[in-house]
Amino acid sequence: MAQGSAAMAAAAFFALLAVAPLLCAPAAAELVRLEHLAKNDGSLSLLVVGDWGRKGTYNQSRVAHQMGKVGEQLNIDFVISTGDNFYENGLTGTDDQAFEQSFTDIYTAKSLQKPWYLVLGNHDYRGDALAQLSPVLQKIDSRFICMKSFIVNAEIVDFFFVDTTPFQLKYWTHPKDDHYDWRGVAPREKYINNLLKDLDEAMKKSSAAWKIVVGHHTMRSVSDHGDTKELLQLLLPVLQANGVDFYINGHDHCLEHISSRDSPIQYFTSGGGSRAWRGFFQPNEDKLKFFYDGQGFMSLQLQQDQAEFTFYDADGNILYQYSQWSLRETYLRPSYVAKE
Ligand SMILES: *[C@@H]1O[C@H](CO)[C@@H](O)[C@H](O)[C@H]1NC(C)=O
Repeated sequence: MAQGSAAMAAAAFFALLAVAPLLCAPAAAELVRLEHLAKNDGSLSLLVVGDWGRKGTYNQSRVAHQMGKVGEQLNIDFVISTGDNFYENGLTGTDDQAFEQSFTDIYTAKSLQKPWYLVLGNHDYRGDALAQLSPVLQKIDSRFICMKSFIVNAEIVDFFFVDTTPFQLKYWTHPKDDHYDWRGVAPREKYINNLLKDLDEAMKKSSAAWKIVVGHHTMRSVSDHGDTKELLQLLLPVLQANGVDFYINGHDHCLEHISSRDSPIQYFTSGGGSRAWRGFFQPNEDKLKFFYDGQGFMSLQLQQDQAEFTFYDADGNILYQYSQWSLRETYLRPSYVAKE
């Protein structure tokens, strides 16, 4: 950590040159691509938070405050939200005050005035899902960059943001009293097939040192929701076939690191943005490395050949760190070690 912080402090100088994301025309594939430059020394640092929009309650403000402090220490380039941005039922429209009350007025620290790349969670789909994608919100707060599925190319890393809510079959077959806004999605099967095809094509073209997929739903989790069967069946094979390094999600209101037994993929849950302490624990077949049932968030510091993940609680204490050298041959060092 000390080493990482020192490197980040040195890099802080260059961050002044950070450039706002540029929108590029989508190529043959359907997925929109955004460009985000790495720092001048080639590194990148960011925070990941999920499951947060509760107008500051359930420790949302407390987590936000600590994110501001860590964001400053690490001189972050951007923030990722793993979804469930607004409880309980997303936004009612682009004029919903919850946007300011749960986002603009909460994440006020200077270090957090960076682009936020967001996906939608199942709760966001229970309101006006299209409102969160609207440029109207960016006029209110230009940080808010939310799309259903998209790619952020950040030089050393390609982030693939995936809309995971339509995968979960029970939202279609057993919606109970909830209404899901499937505009632009239904029919489910066609949407998923097209999405998987687009992702596969984009991943095959990616030559970045790291490939990271971000979605709302869990692939592997030991908490309340557990594994998401549909994602393991449909999405995971695409990730495995394309050498994706990490899958990052929210949905379960906790912090987790789970290591896959049958591929190099590592799973990280950062869903501790507000309400937590569910009190559930159900082991799965993969290897649990870390689990915290409470509030918090995650940082990710990336270099060409190294990735370092850190989990923090609502008081900013470091709970766990994991670092990994790149597994790609071209980046392998003679003294390759995976340390934790
Ligand atoms: C807020 O965070 C503190 C410290 O982690 C914890 O003791 C408390 O239970 C949390 N409150 C809620 C409502 O989760």
